[in-house]
Amino acid sequence: MAERLAGKRIFLTGAAQGIGLAIAHACLREGAALFLVDRDAALLAQSVADLNAPDLNAPGRIGSASADISDRAAIEAAMAQASASIGPINAVINNAGINVFGAPLESSDDDWQRAFDVNVKGAWNCCRAALPAMIAAGGGAILNIASTHSFTIIPGTFPYPVAKHALLGLTKSLALEFAGKGVRVNAIAPGYVQTQKTLDWWNSFPDPAAARAATMALHPGGRIATPEEIAMAAVFMISDETPFMTAACLMVDGGLSTLQHG
Ligand SMILES: NC(=O)c1ccc[n+]([C@@H]2O[C@H](COP(=O)([O-])OP(=O)(O)OC[C@H]3O[C@@H](n4cnc5c(N)ncnc54)[C@H](O)[C@@H]3O)[C@@H](O)[C@H]2O)c1
Repeated sequence: MAERLAGKRIFLTGAAQGIGLAIAHACLREGAALFLVDRDAALLAQSVADLNAPDLNAPGRIGSASADISDRAAIEAAMAQASASIGPINAVINNAGINVFGAPLESSDDDWQRAFDVNVKGAWNCCRAALPAMIAAGGGAILNIASTHSFTIIPGTFPYPVAKHALLGLTKSLALEFAGKGVRVNAIAPGYVQTQKTLDWWNSFPDPAAARAATMALHPGGRIATPEEIAMAAVFMISDETPFMTAACLMVDGGLSTLQHG
């Protein structure tokens, strides 16, 4: 069967673990070349070594750099390095993100700054570093990993959902600005996913097992997503299988956000 991402050269952030690492595996399987970015240098090196395992047939298709996406200069440098190592970037997956959760009136300026620096400005830094070459080449694809928090609010998680709403705004805005240049800009909104971030969230409660059970009970199917299930959607959105889809956000939440509690 033809590889669905043959010819894609993808700049992928937050690739060292969780959803990002699952996306890396899925994109490699589908024939893409990848440039992986994460601020955790040690974990990134380990993940790159795993992805270079002989059975994954990846030699020559993986480059990487440790960088903080909120640092514009570091991302400009990483994009130049990406282009030199795997060729001009024609796809960006903005996956890196952080939880900053609290009560609005107890949150600090620093909380607000961190939430927006990583979850919004970080994605914008990667987009603006990649867009000139994409436009010059006649097009490209950008995918932002948003969240159900881009639509609805869980009280006590401020300002994370404010930033995730803004990431959706960035998605729509860039989609319209660059539609005439052949660049598609879309988002995926995962619900809860089995990652370290979700474990940390459960562990922040006095009774983590009860918190986990409560999360499962919210879901019509009684379970949350695996990172691989989000990666499957990412492959579809970044591929050429959906050429007229732009400014869209695909919900991948097991029905969570459609359920009305009676
Ligand atoms: N896990 C979930 O339930 C869930 C649900 C909806 C949306 N999301 C979103 O999916 C994305 C990935 O989440 P995850 O659960 O896999 O997270 P994770 O914490 O497991 O992994 C995130 C990775 O991003 C890296 N990272 C964080 N900040 C960075 C920065 N400033 N620069 C470079 N790298 C950075 C981390 O080092 C880490 O390796 C995030 O944007 C998150 O908001 C997650």
